[in-house]
Amino acid sequence: MPSPAHHKARRRQLLAAIDSPVLLMAGGWIPRNYPANWQPFRADSTFLFFFPEPEPNAAALFDPKDGSVTLFLDERTQADALWHGPVPGFAEVKKTVGVTAVEPRAALKSFVARKCGKRKVRSIAIADPRATAEAAAITGAKLDFLDSARIGDGELLQCIARLRNQRTEPELAEMRQAAAVTREAHVVAMARTRPGILEQELVGHVEGTFARHGCVPAYNTILSVRGEVLHNHGHRNVLHATDLVLLDAGAELPSGYCADVTRTWPVGGRFGAEARDVYDVVLAAEQAAIAAVRPGVRYRDVHLLACRVLADGLVQMGLLRGSADDLVTSGAHAMFFPHGTGHLLGLDVHDMEAFGDRIAYGPGRRRSEQFGTAYLRLDLDLAPGMCFTIEPGIYFVPAILRDPAFRRQFKGQVDFARAERFLTMNSLRGFGGIRIEDDVLCTDSGHEVLTAAVPKERVAVEALVGSAGA
Ligand code: GLY
Ligand code: MN
Ligand code: MN
Repeated sequence: MPSPAHHKARRRQLLAAIDSPVLLMAGGWIPRNYPANWQPFRADSTFLFFFPEPEPNAAALFDPKDGSVTLFLDERTQADALWHGPVPGFAEVKKTVGVTAVEPRAALKSFVARKCGKRKVRSIAIADPRATAEAAAITGAKLDFLDSARIGDGELLQCIARLRNQRTEPELAEMRQAAAVTREAHVVAMARTRPGILEQELVGHVEGTFARHGCVPAYNTILSVRGEVLHNHGHRNVLHATDLVLLDAGAELPSGYCADVTRTWPVGGRFGAEARDVYDVVLAAEQAAIAAVRPGVRYRDVHLLACRVLADGLVQMGLLRGSADDLVTSGAHAMFFPHGTGHLLGLDVHDMEAFGDRIAYGPGRRRSEQFGTAYLRLDLDLAPGMCFTIEPGIYFVPAILRDPAFRRQFKGQVDFARAERFLTMNSLRGFGGIRIEDDVLCTDSGHEVLTAAVPKERVAVEALVGSAGA
């Protein structure tokens, strides 16, 4: 966990960057069925960025006029102490967190009105709808978490994103720790793989490993023999010896920082001939994209480079026809690689995605409308301190490869008959998909792969599969 001094320095940076008060909400308990049965509490990521281990329902007012930060917490009650255990009093929190004052949460509205008077107070929408509604009522802003146009004041979001995108050493230490836990989970899943078990048994090993380290999954674990379903959250398939397993899972630490890693391996322990070819092409694309990362490079160019390497490999395999440049220009590569090469990563697995493309795309840049590249979540010029994923893949998706419109559009560039063989191989279960995903930090001199210790060389992966025994 970064120290209180780290969070205090981050709060000072925000105070220095704003000229009117800012109200931030942590969010509260969200019931999963009846009101007293809650989802695990997870504070809003921006709140986590400025405060260690926020309490449910916390709020904070940053006032640049006097440089104050006031933290608002629920009053301590005997019932809470009885049911949920004692928590430190306001005076102790003020001292340990290092804020100007701690006030009762119930007084938030009147406190803000009194302290800010007629000054404009800005806030941002968060996932907890009740907290967002309260922030909207206090500030008078129309806030909507599900509408990136109404997530909050654009200048404030830029300000927060500038800070969140420049990782400091304590934050990087957290991300490296999340990467280490994630490595262990992937290695355990590879080692425990054997024909005949259910996907959910391996999910248990993955998430059990996270839990053993005090972590939670940063997003719903994807573990499937149906790797072509990009965000596949079902875990009920039985693993067959001839299947590939795709695991996309990352640990989130109590500080909120996380990892996002994908590996793919053969259930039987040896990649078949086609899988070996596909794996090597995906790995080559991933490595080429990573090698291109350095300050000043535009992320879309990293994406297009990955696309060209994939296209080239698909030509070698007889699935595409033409030059890699032409195939990527026309979008034919997206028949097999229908998503973007990556996204920002930090306190959110898709970091600050709720803030919209105003943050993840550079000024004046808009999303492509072309199928495939339209799913590119990031198009910034890379800068030191930024963390993001690199995650190319090759997939055989029936809904895409059998789509009549795509078949017409890419008739000359895609060998659909050959693709059909991949859709029906493996006793009609199909090839599935292969993705390889790592977490990368842009540094002054180039890059650091935070997840480099997760095995991905084909031979190393094969050696691990099933190594835990029955
Ligand atoms: N784990 C989701 C993603 O890779 O974007
Ligand atoms: Mn990802
Ligand atoms: Mn992922």
